[in-house]
Amino acid sequence: MIDVRPFQPEDKPQILVIYRRAFSDPFGVWREKDLPMTKVLERWHCYQEKNGFQCLAAVMAAENRVVGTIWWDMPTLKELGAERGWQLEAFARQHIGNNQALVWERGVITDPAYKNRKVATGLRKAMLAKISQNGSTLVLTRMRADNPAILAIATKLGFQPTGIKTPSHKWPDVVHQYWYKLVPGCISLMQAE
Ligand SMILES: CC(C)(COP(=O)(O)OP(=O)(O)OC[C@H]1O[C@@H](n2cnc3c(N)ncnc32)[C@H](O)[C@@H]1OP(=O)(O)O)[C@@H](O)C(=O)NCCC(=O)NCCS
Repeated sequence: MIDVRPFQPEDKPQILVIYRRAFSDPFGVWREKDLPMTKVLERWHCYQEKNGFQCLAAVMAAENRVVGTIWWDMPTLKELGAERGWQLEAFARQHIGNNQALVWERGVITDPAYKNRKVATGLRKAMLAKISQNGSTLVLTRMRADNPAILAIATKLGFQPTGIKTPSHKWPDVVHQYWYKLVPGCISLMQAE
């Protein structure tokens, strides 16, 4: 059975290994071949330093083995604009309501050995339920246009495209799409769809 629970510091070594596997998976979309562990560590530290960083782990309960993770942070509108561009900042300004929080879903990964077993779906649902505990929230995220699995999950969970797209700096053929979801306060796991 796979459980979702808050990240614990001792999960980090397993998460780094999964991150490397997920992004270098030859059957996935990223295929970052030879991704060095030093680079993975550098990226993870960068994520952890973001304002309001939070992370959940999907764990095989019997073995306490981590099989996936989701992480997010809470930028200000200005920080969002500085990192993701003025169009997304303008979108967020238009859509964020009074007293509504802003969450940037930065990443979700599943160990390739556990793909298509609803690990990422469970993680995203758990994230939505968790952030809703702090009240109504605008969730934004970026997904590759050629990543059907993550787009399928987003659609299933009620995310919608913002209409904003940017070409990747790193891979000129790749298009990133920005999606959003308005999460009402205090929803349960069952209501996360
Ligand atoms: C994308 C990723 C997170 C998906 O994880 P996962 O645990 O396999 O996802 P789930 O099993 O919860 O859901 C996958 C869904 O995509 C669907 N799917 C998978 N491949 C598909 C394809 N080629 N076309 C259409 N749908 C597809 C599955 O059918 C499933 O939907 P269903 O549950 O309605 O049947 C995982 O493959 C991964 O880690 N990829 C690398 C990192 C990444 O791209 N992360 C996302 C952006 S940061």
